[in-house]
Amino acid sequence: YGMSTFEGPMMSIKTVNALSHNTDWTIGHVHSGALGWVAMVSIGALYHLIPILFSRRAGEMYSIKLINTHFWLATIGTVLYIASMWVNGIMQGLMWRAVNADGTLTYSFVESVEASHPGYVVRVLGGALFLLGMLLMAYNVYKTVRAGKTETESTAAAQA
Ligand code: HEM
Ligand code: HEM
Repeated sequence: YGMSTFEGPMMSIKTVNALSHNTDWTIGHVHSGALGWVAMVSIGALYHLIPILFSRRAGEMYSIKLINTHFWLATIGTVLYIASMWVNGIMQGLMWRAVNADGTLTYSFVESVEASHPGYVVRVLGGALFLLGMLLMAYNVYKTVRAGKTETESTAAAQA
């Protein structure tokens, strides 16, 4: 999210936007907000609410360690996503505007797509790390809800 508030104003500058518009730069910017802010805030809220809703006594998730691991997977995944799209975006912008001495374009559009391939490989890696973090969360939620259930059952048995 810090990234989008940094590069957002950059992209709002007319000369910068002339380069970044319609490139992967915008896609990187979108996901620094989408992953780094919207997703992270939502995930944090869920980690807070789930133990309360499922009445574990300590009000804590099954594993704090897994939450920390998830945090770093999400952070590194997001950084890989936006850094690769930033590099791709600047490269695409430069390739699209490059002209030969006679005024013809130096690169075809397809050449810019081919040159973007390494960036997309890094983005897949970032996305995979982000997904892995979500799987850890699913496991942690499952264990938390189950523990909450046995707790409620034993309390009910003690009261009977
Ligand atoms: C100070 C904060 C921000 C500024 C100044 C800003 C500015 C911009 C600019 C200049 C563009 C490029 C438009 C284009 O060239 O097509 C853009 C695109 C976009 N931004 Fe931001 N942004 C900010 C924060 C955010 C955040 C936090 C999010 C998401 C949570 C976000 C979501 C988007 C989306 C979805 C687009 C793509 C839509 C489009 O291409 O018009 N932005 N933003
Ligand atoms: C690791 C998880 C994610 C991956 C790998 C991913 C991947 C992608 C890809 C490949 C695109 C198309 C980009 C293009 O047109 O070149 C896209 C677009 C988009 N995604 Fe995601 N996404 C993820 C998570 C999210 C989340 C959580 C949100 C919202 C909270 C989101 C919001 C968007 C938006 C708004 C666009 C349209 C961007 C635009 O064209 O202006 N994404 N995403």
